[in-house]
Amino acid sequence: MKSTEQLLELISKEIDQQKYGAEPHELYEPIRYIMALGGKRLRPLLATMSYSLFKDDVASILPQAIAVEVFHNFTLMHDDIMDEAPLRRTKPTVHEKWNSNTAILSGDVMLVKAYEMLIENEHPAAIKILKAFNQCASEVCEGQQFDMDFENQAEVTEESYLEMIRLKTAVLLGFSLEMGAMLAESDSENCKALRDFGINIGLGFQLKDDLLDVYADASKFGKQVGGDIIANKKTFLLISALKLANKKQRAALDGWIGKTDFEPAEKVKAVTKIYDELDIRSLTENKMNEYFQKGFQSLRKVNAPLHKKAILRGFAESLIDREK
Ligand code: IPE
Ligand code: IPE
Ligand code: MG
Ligand code: MG
Ligand code: MG
Repeated sequence: MKSTEQLLELISKEIDQQKYGAEPHELYEPIRYIMALGGKRLRPLLATMSYSLFKDDVASILPQAIAVEVFHNFTLMHDDIMDEAPLRRTKPTVHEKWNSNTAILSGDVMLVKAYEMLIENEHPAAIKILKAFNQCASEVCEGQQFDMDFENQAEVTEESYLEMIRLKTAVLLGFSLEMGAMLAESDSENCKALRDFGINIGLGFQLKDDLLDVYADASKFGKQVGGDIIANKKTFLLISALKLANKKQRAALDGWIGKTDFEPAEKVKAVTKIYDELDIRSLTENKMNEYFQKGFQSLRKVNAPLHKKAILRGFAESLIDREK
């Protein structure tokens, strides 16, 4: 089985070779732009690692692995409009560099390109994969809508939050891993165990994303720090703080959430201070670790050589301590 570095190299080369389309330039250039910004390439890595647990010719499934990355980048392009995000991977977001209409349409065509790549080579499992992908893609949209709805909802329970992040983030990690096993024509138990592994590390992954949104080193993070606080995102951090706050802290939090006219940096600083007082950081880290551990339990159930599973586990572990 190839190492993480070797797989990343294969994936990056394949992405660099993609053309997407020529004219109109304004439709296709933003796709090349966002895809060239890099990112962790987490989802194609998971797909190729999952496949490699069972088969060696990983180059044969690169189109499908790249498809999930194209889909992911499409969701980011639209997510950045919805979240009014200025930065992505240290560079201006597509709607900032061009405009929102451009980001909408380029995103739309990326979804189509993802489908094209999924059916490339007409793999025997293609229909099964498309069905699973369709469910996953609908769920991502459902999660995104819950995420937006929750901005304006005062009471969001931890349970609703967890369901929201399962939908918007975790199912795509689950799908990437499941797809790898489906492409390798592994049995349904392995497909399910890998999917469960992906969903659980996906929940942990989004908890870490929420944590980084507050506590990341801005120079490494590549996205705006504090964006979630500014937008009143009901993250695990905010939900926990609202639960644990004393009267004074609660009043301050409610005040900031209700304010429409404020200095963003001031709000971020004040809310972060309350998180610090309540040690929300440790609480979130504990929750994140719980889900990663749960994920590793599922990985244990996968019937594949231990030394191969160790590569996948090692890669997943590296996500826990990531800085971006
Ligand atoms: C960002 O995904 C959106 C989330 C689901 C948290 P990644 O953190 O995988 O972003 P890139 O692709 O590495 O930039
Ligand atoms: C994004 O969640 C999830 C999807 C793109 C579907 P976030 O809004 O937290 O992602 P970032 O932080 O902008 O990458
Ligand atoms: Mg968002
Ligand atoms: Mg966002
Ligand atoms: Mg985020």
